[in-house]
Formats: sequence, structure tokens, C-alpha cells
Amino acid sequence: MSHLAELDAIPQLVGVEAVTRRFPLDHNFVSALDSVNLRVAPGEFLAIAGPSGSGKSTLLNLIGCIDKPTSGRILIDGVDTSKLNPTRMTALRREKIGFVFQTFNLIPVFTAAENVEFPLLVQGFSSSERRERVAAALESVGLSARANHRPDLLSGGERQRVAVARAIVHRPALVLADEPTANLDTRNATQLIDLMHDLNRRLGLTFIFSTHDQRLLEHTDRIVRLTDGQVVSDTDVSFTLKSQTPIEGASHGQVLIASV
Ligand SMILES: Nc1ncnc2c1ncn2[C@@H]1O[C@H](COP(=O)(O)OP(=O)(O)OP(=O)(O)O)[C@@H](O)[C@H]1O
Ligand SMILES: [Mg+2]
Repeated sequence: MSHLAELDAIPQLVGVEAVTRRFPLDHNFVSALDSVNLRVAPGEFLAIAGPSGSGKSTLLNLIGCIDKPTSGRILIDGVDTSKLNPTRMTALRREKIGFVFQTFNLIPVFTAAENVEFPLLVQGFSSSERRERVAAALESVGLSARANHRPDLLSGGERQRVAVARAIVHRPALVLADEPTANLDTRNATQLIDLMHDLNRRLGLTFIFSTHDQRLLEHTDRIVRLTDGQVVSDTDVSFTLKSQTPIEGASHGQVLIASV
């Protein structure tokens, strides 16, 4: 088998193929993403890094089937999402993807357990299955003892761990987290990333999270850097070598990319 054929044989959970996303601005448009290629294998723990406005949220929204590209296509677990109607897109998102948000987005009048249960209600799980899954999800984030607390009785770090439990309770293939640590202090931020990494290893869940924080990048397996809507580096050599030309002099597993 040739080297490229071997790479093609690597299973792919997320495929971002030549994706451009433009938004209208005045009488013109802004390119939030410009010809982005990205391939994520099942079980990866991947950070999207880049300055404000570089396109991190836009990319996560596209992978999360919340938004559609202007051109190019997104594949999730082999399904070309550009071919899905809105109903099937919503079904795919609910089944395969869990989200963690910067501002936690917990429902204030619900307890931790009720917040975690919510996606299961939407998907019509039985009450016994819901109970079992909620207990397991809260245990996996170390919050069994807080199950009956409302969010206002929890710390920021605990709230975000409830949000992680909610994101994994339906056992999605992929968890997307857009700046999940932006509202946490450094200690809680590091603990949250380490918790997500632990869930990634133990449960085989694929995580893609975005961050501004350089220190958190030491806690991840792979870093994709965006600047002005383009991927400027990716520490996964196998995919970048295949799709892009590395610049000579790139060091320490970091592949700088020149467009070809
Ligand atoms: N709905 C929208 N309408 C118009 N422009 C948008 C929209 N969403 C994003 N943009 C623009 O696209 C670019 C990328 O935005 P995006 O929110 O993806 O960046 P980001 O890397 O997530 O930034 P931050 O770190 O501040 O969250 C920015 O120039 C932004 O102004
Ligand atoms: Mg953002």
C-alpha cells in the first residue's frame, strides 16, 4: 500500500473539505473561513487556537451542523451534511454531537441532574434509561454529590462540569466546546481541559475545543491554528503532509503550511 493510500485508510469522524464561509458586511462580505481543510479521526483530542476573529467559532458551528458553508463540504461520520435537509441535519446533530458553551448555558431553575437529563428528554429516552445515564454522566465528571443542586449553588468550574456531563450524556461521537474555559480561572480552566482529556481517553470520545489560552495548549494532543480564517499550522503531520506543503524549517512536530 502506498503512503497516501495508508492515510486514506485512516478512519475519519470529521471531514472539512475546502470550506469557505462568508458573511455579508455592509455592501461587501467578510470571509470568516477561507478554503479550510481539516480531518479529525475518531478518538482525537484537538484544540483550535487563534486570535479573536480568526474563525474558531465559525468552524465549530459548521462542524456542529449549526451553520452551513458558503462553499465546500462538511462530512460527519461519513455523512455529507451539505446533502441533508434541516430535519435530518438536526437529527444528526442531536445524535452525534454534544456541545459545551463558553457561558455554560445551564437552565437556572433545573437541578444539575435535570440539566443533564434535558437532551435525553428531547431524544425520547425512557425514564429508567435517563436515570441511569444521568447518574453515570454526573459520576464521570465527579459531581454525583451535586446532582440536586441548582446552578446558582455551584461554582463556575462545577457548572461547566455539569455542562460537560450534559454534552456526553447521550453518548455522542463528537463533543464540541467553543472556549469552554473563557469564564474560568486558570486552575479551573486547566482542571476542565484535563477532565475532558480524561473522558476522551477513558470513553474514546472525540473532543474539539477552541481556546485563546496558550497555556491550555500544553494539555492537548493536537493543535490546529487559525489566522484570518485559514489554517496556518496543524500538529497532525499525517494530514497536513497529505493536503498541504510544509514549509522547510518547521520544527518540533509543528508543520507550517504553505498553500499549494
Ligand atoms: N454572523 C456573522 N455575521 C457577520 N460576520 C460574522 C458573523 N460571525 C462571524 N463573523 C465574522 O467572521 C470572523 C470570524 O469570527 P469568529 O466568531 O468565527 O471568530 P473567533 O475566532 O471565534 O473569535 P473570538 O476568539 O473572538 O471568539 C470575524 O471577522 C467575525 O466578525
Ligand atoms: Mg469565538
